[in-house]
Amino acid sequence: MNSRLHVWHPFTQEALDPPPLRVVKAEGVYLYTDDGRRLIDGISSWWVNLHGHCHPAIMAAIAEQSSKLDHVLLAGFTHEAIEELSVRLGNFLPESIEHIFFSDNGSTAVEVALKMALQYWENMGRAQKRSIVALEHAYHGDTAGAMSVSADSSFTDPFRDLRFPVQRVHSAYCYRCPVGLTRATCNIDCLDKLARLLEEKRDEIAAVIVEPLLQGAGGMIVHPIEFLQRTRQLCTEHDVLLIADEVLTGFGRCGAMFACNLANVVPDLMCLSKGLTGGVLPMGATVCTAGIHGAFVSADRARTFYHGHSYPGNPLAAAAGIASMKIFESEPVLERIQTIGAIHGERLAAVQNHAAVANVRSIGSVAAIELRAADAGYSSKLRPKLYKFFLDRGVLLRPLGNIIYVLPPYAISAHDLHFVHDQIAESLRLLGSL
Ligand SMILES: Cc1ncc(COP(=O)(O)O)c(C=O)c1O
Repeated sequence: MNSRLHVWHPFTQEALDPPPLRVVKAEGVYLYTDDGRRLIDGISSWWVNLHGHCHPAIMAAIAEQSSKLDHVLLAGFTHEAIEELSVRLGNFLPESIEHIFFSDNGSTAVEVALKMALQYWENMGRAQKRSIVALEHAYHGDTAGAMSVSADSSFTDPFRDLRFPVQRVHSAYCYRCPVGLTRATCNIDCLDKLARLLEEKRDEIAAVIVEPLLQGAGGMIVHPIEFLQRTRQLCTEHDVLLIADEVLTGFGRCGAMFACNLANVVPDLMCLSKGLTGGVLPMGATVCTAGIHGAFVSADRARTFYHGHSYPGNPLAAAAGIASMKIFESEPVLERIQTIGAIHGERLAAVQNHAAVANVRSIGSVAAIELRAADAGYSSKLRPKLYKFFLDRGVLLRPLGNIIYVLPPYAISAHDLHFVHDQIAESLRLLGSL
């Protein structure tokens, strides 16, 4: 179809990247293109899809909702779908998390958490607590605040003077240990920097933000559980809020409903999006404790949280979210994730000693293979070659530079998941000639 107006595709360099594939239909784990191809969606369409594309129950819920209420603003109004979604989501969240603020996507969920943290301290009469601590290799989104807390990279560089300064501390990237130790004998020494910082600057620090247990876009870096647990302890000891960005890790990705559950950690604020609607419609949410919410409730209007987008709590997205939650309640979703995890484990073990493989890691439904590369990083020359290689073999994988990862919808069959891993094994065999 010819149009005067051209779609500008995200994360795409038109001068170098192949033209976009035209998808005409999606079902289960498959994407169908107009040139007759069927691709396995090995990355859940940017980490959003949970139960397979066009899941009948989610589609039916959206259709039913669309006959009742399309959209209404959430300031001064409420509706049944958002109330039911809040109840169902609440059943999966820790007891102390009592409030939910809706927005549009993962980046806005992060912006909301950062702004809430800052205004919380201001409303509490401690306005000097303004600074945010974030991890190396972090990725929290592409809006200005989310970019500020994300690690420095070629993605953020053109906007360097827009980003507010943050205190940067080590990530537990064990394969590239920031303090030169090995996990078998270390005492999570990478946390010493955070401990020292909080000791010295606790009166200036509002919050620490982490991607719990799994840093996604930074390279699918899996952290030891103790790293998250001790971060929580340090935040509590020093009266600093902990923000868990569960935009990627939420809704089962790491093997439990939320990554924080795996570590028995309760954050003060949690950012949700991606899988919140089963990966079907955009929606973001920031959840927080009663204590945080309480600091905004006052006869003084200046304490109001003046933040809101056009579409928070959209009824169609909420209906999709409710249907997705019901699938968690009625289908063996966590068992499916365990099966995926077991296959990942078996297949990673089979390639970990390959000469081209530097490191393998996995958690829940996510598996990653870091390849040896002279130009390691997102711009590695391997990336476009591998992307094409997998597409040519019917699999959508988008390596993060020299890191191949698989993050499938939970509905993937063992057969299809093995097929994906077969293609990865084949790519390793042919790496020199790609
Ligand atoms: C951990 C994390 N936070 C935030 C975001 C931003 O979400 P969105 O792309 O919906 O703005 C992402 C996106 O990948 C993410 O992985």
